[in-house]
Amino acid sequence: MIKLGHRGYSAKYPENTMEAFIKAYEVGFDGIETDVQMSKDGELVLIHDEKINRTSHGKGYVKDYTFKELREFNFCYKAEGFYSIPTLEELLLFIKGKKFFVNLEIKTDHIQYLDIEKKVVEMVHRIGVEKQILYSSFYLNSVIKLKQLDPQAYVGYLIEKQYDVKRALLNEYHITAFHPKYSYLTLKRVQELKQSKIKIATWTVPNLKEYKRLKEWGVDIIISNDIF
Ligand code: G3P
Ligand code: CA
Repeated sequence: MIKLGHRGYSAKYPENTMEAFIKAYEVGFDGIETDVQMSKDGELVLIHDEKINRTSHGKGYVKDYTFKELREFNFCYKAEGFYSIPTLEELLLFIKGKKFFVNLEIKTDHIQYLDIEKKVVEMVHRIGVEKQILYSSFYLNSVIKLKQLDPQAYVGYLIEKQYDVKRALLNEYHITAFHPKYSYLTLKRVQELKQSKIKIATWTVPNLKEYKRLKEWGVDIIISNDIF
């Protein structure tokens, strides 16, 4: 089973910062999960929300700032010190040559950034870390595009509602990895997915009790803020 730090080691460090990613590596996670969005001038940046309000001292949409402007804000989110918004490139260069996975969630469920899937896949291949990357998205079109752009890649479909409807879409679009919220998983559902040879990644596992239960059931990937 693979353990991924959700937005890095976000239980202890400001989410989606290089510090949170590096500490996740040092503490023994097998990799991290992070969220990809795009600046006004097309830079791929790692931040969960479409707006910078919650995690920085600034206000407004990521898409309305140039990368240079985004770098001016402090993404300290409840911590002391200065934390810059990271780029996808910085993260990929950090993992290159290490035994460390990255689950790149393409954040297109609210804003469909032009060609973001293509830009991400091209960068992953240019840096040469494709074997370490697991893609995912809540937005079905992105999942389909990612599979077309890189047929060898791991591409997961994220869901937080409508389990049965979304489960049916996996067959229709030949999607072989499912990323449901942990509370949606029952033993019966896990068994059914495993029988169908579908990889299961689940989030955001909140405590040791849930972690042990999901591990026993044979879930492939656990995404959590803290390490258990
Ligand atoms: O990829 C798992 C999880 O991160 C999806 O939900 O809202 O935390 O991006 P969210
Ligand atoms: Ca995410």
